[in-house]
Amino acid sequence: MVQIAVLGFGTVGSGVVELIDKNQASIRGRFPEGIHVKYILDLREFPDSPYHDRVIHDYNIILNDPEIRIICETMGGKNPAYAFSKSALEKGISVCTSNKELVAAHGPELLRTAAAHNCSYMFEASVGGGIPVIRPLLNALSQEYITSIVGILNGTTNYIMTRMEKENMTFEETLRIAQEKGYAERNPEADVEGHDACRKIAILSSLMTGKTVRYEDIPCEGISRITKADFGYARNMQMGIKLLGMAHRNEDGSVNVRTAPFLVSRDHPLYSATGVFNAVFVHGNCVDDLMFYGRGAGKLPTASAVVADVVDCAVNLGRNVDVAWSDEVLPLADSSKEVRRFFIRAAADARDSLLSAFGSDLEEVSSDTPAADECAFVTAAMSEAAFDEAAAGISGIRTWIRLF
Ligand code: HSE
Repeated sequence: MVQIAVLGFGTVGSGVVELIDKNQASIRGRFPEGIHVKYILDLREFPDSPYHDRVIHDYNIILNDPEIRIICETMGGKNPAYAFSKSALEKGISVCTSNKELVAAHGPELLRTAAAHNCSYMFEASVGGGIPVIRPLLNALSQEYITSIVGILNGTTNYIMTRMEKENMTFEETLRIAQEKGYAERNPEADVEGHDACRKIAILSSLMTGKTVRYEDIPCEGISRITKADFGYARNMQMGIKLLGMAHRNEDGSVNVRTAPFLVSRDHPLYSATGVFNAVFVHGNCVDDLMFYGRGAGKLPTASAVVADVVDCAVNLGRNVDVAWSDEVLPLADSSKEVRRFFIRAAADARDSLLSAFGSDLEEVSSDTPAADECAFVTAAMSEAAFDEAAAGISGIRTWIRLF
């Protein structure tokens, strides 16, 4: 029996412990010795939990117990998760994590530490929760030249945008419901301002390129500026609005990465990922289009990915499972040169200024809930820089959103 410890007995950590009990038979199918959770580290006591007798508060007990071979780091946040993970790997203890913040900030360093100590650092659950996407990118797609990865990577914002679209609700109303249902945090900033999705696309684009895409370098916009009025036009254009994380290789090999809300056509497969579901759309030069779809968050879906990593570490005890992600920083291509169409919603009296700034290529669009004081257009394909220049100084612009 391989002994493991779980750091953090929150939603994901408690799911890991439960799943290891529930699926022990299938775990033994892959790893006959079986896996046992010896310790659960948390600041809190859990007197009503069937696992209360395994709860400890001192990390050193885990670190100094030679029986512990694998740790599940399901604490979230950078500290103390970074110090705990690093010290475990330095002792040859493998670490499996759902912590996208830590992986995006210190992934290559922790991978290097694992390789130096014949153990592994695994992070399938850090992107897309229960959706297998990291392992397919590293293994099944290892010989593809991946030209783009576009994902709906945040369930909270996808839930908010779906309800705004389908039920004609405001951002504030849907955020409150998402908080009541436990999807959105009390402080929803990391989700609604796009930081969570940005960390996830930083991880995916690093794996796509094998280098480090720093999430601080990625242009990042959230959904808090998207209004009920925008969805009136989106519906009429047969589109939804989705927060996308996207990484795209240009013909010269340079890479653009961005997190922002986009208008997405109902014909695109990504449109079908609604509510809390996530989807990752990948294009490879040989395999063509692929889409991975599933639950991007939640107790058992995320635990499923963590436990699959644990079993992989158990099968490979004493060896490092290599991940092709170097710490060489990838400079991103100039985001102002990205070319696409833009939707603009403006006060009715801005019509003439818009037509003169953007030219006759502007296509007028209408809302399913028209407002007399407003006009809206979709531009021809143009660069971000050209859009910014044309839009500068037009005071009546109420919103603009990129088209995917
Ligand atoms: N806050 C995240 C989401 C949780 O809403 O998708 C999973 O990373």
